[in-house]
Amino acid sequence: MFKILTLNNISILGLERLPRDRYEIASEIQHPDAVLLRSFKMHEWEIPGTLKAVGRAGAGVNNIPVDKMTKLGIPVFNAPGANANAVKELVLGAMLLASRNLLPAWDYVRGLQGTDAEISKQVEAGKKQFVGSELVNRTLGVIGLGAIGVKVANAAQSLGMQVMGYDPHITVKNAWQLSSQVKQALSVEDLLSQVEFVTVHVPLSDATRHIINAERLKIARKELMILNFSRDGIIDDVAVGEAIKANQVKGYITDFPTNLLIKHERVIALPHLGASTNEAEENCAIMVADQVRDYLENATIHNS
Ligand code: MLT
Repeated sequence: MFKILTLNNISILGLERLPRDRYEIASEIQHPDAVLLRSFKMHEWEIPGTLKAVGRAGAGVNNIPVDKMTKLGIPVFNAPGANANAVKELVLGAMLLASRNLLPAWDYVRGLQGTDAEISKQVEAGKKQFVGSELVNRTLGVIGLGAIGVKVANAAQSLGMQVMGYDPHITVKNAWQLSSQVKQALSVEDLLSQVEFVTVHVPLSDATRHIINAERLKIARKELMILNFSRDGIIDDVAVGEAIKANQVKGYITDFPTNLLIKHERVIALPHLGASTNEAEENCAIMVADQVRDYLENATIHNS
């Protein structure tokens, strides 16, 4: 019997890949053979001597001490691409939300009072106040052309946006999937100097930490709109706060709220919702449970 410890909620569709006659699965279990998790921070966690595999039901692995696991000979499995569609849809939704002023407009409507005739007058005023702009022909920069970045770039392209991408490490497979209409930037600076929206889709590492920082914001196109559905730390929030004050940056939409910017009127912060759809949670759980099962049972390591 293999013992699986779940450190976060994992979709039942994934857990069902581990048959009950061979697996005991619980959120509290002694001597686990494997752990399944989402955002649980494993760095401070005491690694049980029985642990043989880690399954991260998501793409990023920065909440796992991968180097330490590697030294211990414990493979870390993840689910790259399994939630790419969820993130893509949220990025597009966030751009639409911002460019059509939907949040302040909704807030305005919720504050309306009076008879229907009075409300109708206020609606007319709101209609003038919240005039938005369309995404067609607007420029979007996508930093990171992995599974998510490619989907975002192609979808934005199909909305009529002019898309520019930057990824010096793009794989051949992703390059093939990328629309030929997506222009390649020479550098992050090159991209930032040309686009009105920028979205980041890179994993957090020493090379990507603060990929958008004060220096780069100085050369960015004025009134840039920044989206971060990737990881906390990829954007320098302090620099973004300063750039918003200086009107260099128009707004910031982030899935990683920090104390500094959470209440800022030109910041929309969400509670790490990028991959939070039923479909993505199921896809990730299935992908990772299959990998952990194949490793525990057959010592097979595969990329789904
Ligand atoms: C990811 O890395 O894919 C996401 O952070 C997954 C999640 O929201 O748990």
